[in-house]
Amino acid sequence: MTAKYAIILAAGQGTRMKSKLYKVLHPVCGKPMVDHVLTQIEKNDIDEIVTVVGHGAQKVEATLGTRTQYVLQAEQLGTGHAVLQAEALLGDKEGMTIIACGDTPLFTAKTFEELFEYHKSKGAVATVLTATTDNPFGYGRIIRNEIGIVEKIVEQKDATKEEAAVTEINTGVYCFDNQELFHALHQIKNDNAQGEYYLTDVMEIFKKEEKIVAAYRMKDFSESMGVNDRLALAKATAVMQKRINETHMKNGVTLVDPATTYIDVDVKIGADTVIEPGVQLKGHTVIGSDCHIGAHSEIRDCVLKDGVTVTASFLEEAVMHTGSNIGPYSHLRPQADIGEGVHIGNFVEVKKAQIGKNTKVGHLTYVGDATLGKDINVGCGTVFVNYDGINKHHTNVGDYSFIGSGSNIIAPVQIADHAYVAAGSTVTEDVDAHDMAIARSRQVNKKGYFDHYPVAQAAAEAEKAENK
Ligand code: UD1
Ligand code: CA
Repeated sequence: MTAKYAIILAAGQGTRMKSKLYKVLHPVCGKPMVDHVLTQIEKNDIDEIVTVVGHGAQKVEATLGTRTQYVLQAEQLGTGHAVLQAEALLGDKEGMTIIACGDTPLFTAKTFEELFEYHKSKGAVATVLTATTDNPFGYGRIIRNEIGIVEKIVEQKDATKEEAAVTEINTGVYCFDNQELFHALHQIKNDNAQGEYYLTDVMEIFKKEEKIVAAYRMKDFSESMGVNDRLALAKATAVMQKRINETHMKNGVTLVDPATTYIDVDVKIGADTVIEPGVQLKGHTVIGSDCHIGAHSEIRDCVLKDGVTVTASFLEEAVMHTGSNIGPYSHLRPQADIGEGVHIGNFVEVKKAQIGKNTKVGHLTYVGDATLGKDINVGCGTVFVNYDGINKHHTNVGDYSFIGSGSNIIAPVQIADHAYVAAGSTVTEDVDAHDMAIARSRQVNKKGYFDHYPVAQAAAEAEKAENK
């Protein structure tokens, strides 16, 4: 078996993005562009992957971790110069090397595989992956001779009018004989419009040495899109989103309106789940089967088991167990753990709290830093008062307990199983099993007091007018 290597070019600043964030780290559907490239390359059984870093080197390395080796291109003198930095790691090795740019997030593993195969079948030293587009502006053009053999690649800024009219472009992906590649790279010069060492110039060098240069033309130009500015970033995102959504639909997920459904690339969804318009599923969210995600919900890095219903709510780093439901207009914050069959109604916020099976938290409630057992009813407007201004404190509520509406549970406090908190209580002491806590001042009714208020006069006048 021929050894396979890959080099990813990711040292550029990406000036045209006008961004503090390095270009290759801009996310497309939740994953940095360069990570998309690496992910697809990894699927091809590559022996060694080298990423060329420069601008934002540390950030790029932190993002990709140990999945690739790195070489530093301290000064960005062009794509040819960038590849040359990998010589220390790969230079003398026998095999095939694929090169891709960190700013082309849409390439698939299948295309890389086809390129390897085509390159081998042609016995070429170099094969460039090309595509055809009506709008080739900005790309390098593939210049072929009368009989269709690739002669060279000419950059936009160096192209004659005639060359600029060519619609076949360089996608920026290539396959090379590894040793031939580094041999040719030592001969390229920077006598061009941008004063850079162009990788693309090795093609002409191979031609002069009478070696076989091939071009593999892919059918789908959109897959080759290079992202140099925010317009292209949005276009690439749209292509990627369509691809992701189609995959989920093919796997049995209903997207009521795929055009307005935004799903990150690493999200997983089970069959027979229905997703309504305007939903955003982000990060590493995992959703089970038979769930219903209502319109305009946003779910980031959550796990939802089977049969969960979310209605217009915002969920982050939370878990919802089988058959639980939430919303409308509720908020799960990190470490909210919503048990089986639990009902979280409207305008409820849950943070760092475990809620046991079949418990109900129906309305206008804050549950923070608490452990609630099963089959509890938490009345409307309950506040788990967890913060004293310096520290957070924890509350436990036992199984089958009942928290009356409008209660304040001042942590830390323990409410046992089968305990009852009377509505409107401010609970500061522990409550034992089968007891009822009533912690509010007694009502006093003051005789005739209404008439002392100014409203009394207005009420009397209104009454008179009504009876006329
Ligand atoms: C390049 C190709 C062009 C092709 C296009 C496809 C060259 C000379 N041109 O042009 O033919 O049509 O890609 O998208 O190769 N980089 C470095 N170090 C450098 C310069 C660039 O690592 O010194 C990296 C960048 O981070 C980027 C990639 O190489 O990921 C491509 O560089 P870029 O400047 O975007 O090249 P293009 O002008 O798009
Ligand atoms: Ca580019």
